[in-house]
Amino acid sequence: MSRIKVGLLGIGVVGGGTWKVLTGNAGEIERRVGRGIEVVAVAARDLDKARRLVGETVRLTEDGMSIVRDPEIDIIVELVGGESVAREWIMEAIAQGKHVVTANKALLAKHGNEIFRAAAEKGVMVAFEAAVAGGIPVIKAIREGLAANRIQWVAGIINGTTNYILSEMRVRGVSFEEALADAQRLGYAEADPTFDVEGVDAAHKLSLLASLAFGIPVQFDKAHIEGISELAREDIAHAERLGYRIKLLGVTRRSAKGIELRVHPTLIPAERLLANVEGAMNAVLVSGDAVGPTLYYGQGAGELPTASAVVADLVDVARLQAADPGHQVPSLAFQPNAMVDIPILSMDDVVSSYYLRLRVEDRPGVLADLARILSDSHISINSMFQEPHGEADADIIFLSHQAREGDVNRALEKIQSLPFVKSRVIRLRMENLL
Ligand code: NDP
Ligand code: HSE
Repeated sequence: MSRIKVGLLGIGVVGGGTWKVLTGNAGEIERRVGRGIEVVAVAARDLDKARRLVGETVRLTEDGMSIVRDPEIDIIVELVGGESVAREWIMEAIAQGKHVVTANKALLAKHGNEIFRAAAEKGVMVAFEAAVAGGIPVIKAIREGLAANRIQWVAGIINGTTNYILSEMRVRGVSFEEALADAQRLGYAEADPTFDVEGVDAAHKLSLLASLAFGIPVQFDKAHIEGISELAREDIAHAERLGYRIKLLGVTRRSAKGIELRVHPTLIPAERLLANVEGAMNAVLVSGDAVGPTLYYGQGAGELPTASAVVADLVDVARLQAADPGHQVPSLAFQPNAMVDIPILSMDDVVSSYYLRLRVEDRPGVLADLARILSDSHISINSMFQEPHGEADADIIFLSHQAREGDVNRALEKIQSLPFVKSRVIRLRMENLL
């Protein structure tokens, strides 16, 4: 049988890794697919750099559209990133009736509904395993392995850069800036690293996971997003002393009123497996009603781990390339006509436990006033810690039982305006993950 011809758009970190995996493991891949997979054309801006990697036999061009429109090419692999040319090239590839593999979570989070709709109409596949949690086959697990389940919740460490930064700060005591520079050097960070540190990249991935888990449209614009740039070292240390670790967690949960969709730094009990995921590693917990909680762990970023997911998608697409669209696995796990529009829950209605830290004057009545405000707001205190700060002040930490976020916000507003409160009140969410 003839070889499957692939057009590779972008040959940077992930594109380069994809080339290496496809060429290095060509024999194993052919044994799996039943045909060889060959990259016949590559798009890049720096063609000399690309030439050094792929040699003389592959066609190189700056014009990705010429690859997309080449009738000889069967599958387009988009690894350029960003939203402009990547979107144009993917939409044109679909219009040309070509299957697409992409790692572009930013694009899919914002334009996924349009892209998946066009692909379904045209009967082609858009595969995106590498877009969520790098090399971990979590999309395949949710879409296929857990297909029997009504998924209840998904919670994950889905940004390697921030997990690397948090680990380095906690374990080696390095500064935020130093750890971020290392993550950039190692190829984990996005072209714009604010996407990583401000939680945007994790929210891109979480909105895709929510769509796959619950059969809802991709709704990145409704996600609640907090990153780690404001996280204080002392909260990392306090959490540690109290038996918790702080992780940037993406959480999406089905509740009676809607779907939770949120990314924020989160205290997790230190004994949980997720709390012990260090460095650039990612891990995703998926809980289904039949199977219970399941955990997927591995490298969430970097050249070869991400390429592993890209090539796995290529293998899937190559196997089903000629199949009738009715026999393809739907891109978002549910049949396109069976997607439902469950609302995304407002953060005010999210129920969680909370870590609250504030500095106060250390005098009679202070604690009583704080406790009264919390109690009036239906917030029950689970535990409380106090340590002196200087001669006249004290740092107080409350850990709450489960409370509605709207109630917590109202209580914090009142507390913040009290004359004896001498700092901003720090509020972090806690997840038990059971
Ligand atoms: P890189 O910046 O390393 O590579 C981008 C590639 O695209 C380069 O070859 C670049 O060419 C090429 N390119 C960019 N713009 C154009 C253009 N206008 N025309 C032609 N070629 C162009 O990015 P990554 O490999 O890190 O990321 C690629 C995608 O994978 C992104 O969507 C990213 O979010 C995603 N991803 C990345 C992961 C990682 O660990 N890095 C993990 C998971 C997903 P040149 O070098 O010549 O400029
Ligand atoms: N910047 C991303 C991360 C790359 O750090 O996880 C993988 O998607």
